[in-house]
Amino acid sequence: MLDSVKILGIETSCDETAVAVVEDGYRLLSNPVASSMDVHARYGGVVPEIAARSHIEVMLPVVQQALDDANCSWKDIDGIAVTYGAGLGGSLLIGVLTARTLALSRERPLYAVNHVEGHIYANFLTSTALPGYTMRTAQPKFPMLAIIVSGGHSQLVLFRDHFDYTLLGYTQDDAIGEAFDKVAKILGLPYPGGPSVEKLAKTGDPTAFQFPKAKMSKYDFSFSGVKTAVLRAAQAQIGQDYTFPSTKLAERLSEAQKANIAASFQQIAFETIIDKVKLAYEEFSPASVVIAGGVAASPALRSMLIKAIPCPIEFPDLKLCTDNGAMIATLGCFKAMLGQPTADPFSLDIEPNLSM
Ligand code: KG4
Ligand code: ZN
Repeated sequence: MLDSVKILGIETSCDETAVAVVEDGYRLLSNPVASSMDVHARYGGVVPEIAARSHIEVMLPVVQQALDDANCSWKDIDGIAVTYGAGLGGSLLIGVLTARTLALSRERPLYAVNHVEGHIYANFLTSTALPGYTMRTAQPKFPMLAIIVSGGHSQLVLFRDHFDYTLLGYTQDDAIGEAFDKVAKILGLPYPGGPSVEKLAKTGDPTAFQFPKAKMSKYDFSFSGVKTAVLRAAQAQIGQDYTFPSTKLAERLSEAQKANIAASFQQIAFETIIDKVKLAYEEFSPASVVIAGGVAASPALRSMLIKAIPCPIEFPDLKLCTDNGAMIATLGCFKAMLGQPTADPFSLDIEPNLSM
């Protein structure tokens, strides 16, 4: 096991170009993120070609900023970690090719990181000198129950140790963040949908609509049924049937109707997650429960989780929930410290559909 390790992590699976330096798997030294979100927002979702092009434009400046913010030069960096999947092909390629080139030119080991595993490792960060971060006070303990709720994934995973885990269940259709984004579209709210739905939900009645909770096998999820139920409810509210176009609903719904739909949808979507977390907690008695992914930024989900789980739960800073380089560098540190295999810088390929 190495004494001390500094890893540079690169994340480009979607629209964020994110690079970070993490030391010893717990200390965050830098975490710049450049996002092309404002451009995508105009189109109501991420446009893959625009995302890939903007990664090319900002990749090297963001790498340099990560080094500068960490007060590091290349001689201080022990290895490079990069997201190689899952994600958008064009976006992943830019990050992976950058990491391969840096690994070869700087003669550093390369670690290939699964994006979803990376999200979970944001929970291992406990220290930083960077301003504006609220850090966890301690690293999670094993066995660890991990709840992954993002734009592309909804999963429950039981970790017995680092790199030793079982996928308990996952969504059979839409991810929870995707459902938030689609409901936001129906309600005419800006992308990304999670924060916009959450904001509007605060003024609505979560019991106004009884949306269905999908009946799935023990630890699996489904969010496409509730999304369709939202569409039908919105159509019914304005006295129309299922043929009425979803794109024209927002202008016909009142603010109160929208708020009630947002609140009722959010309630059911989060209950769906919490129900399964409770079941898994009872069955496996984990020492820690961690939550990860963009939707983990939601204060409403956090407070529901605190109420549902009998053990204390710590949350990563909001900036460490949405896509970032720190989570990739953190997992990279553990790979380096625990002697996990390195990737070949001549041949590491992207895996857009990588699962856990
Ligand atoms: O993890 P992430 O940044 O990207 C993926 O790997 O997918 O997650 C993005 C997702 C989006 O669907 C966004 O709507 C959702 O996270 N999200 C939220 C909140 N902030 C971001 N969902 C609910 N409440 C939030 N506050
Ligand atoms: Zn993500």
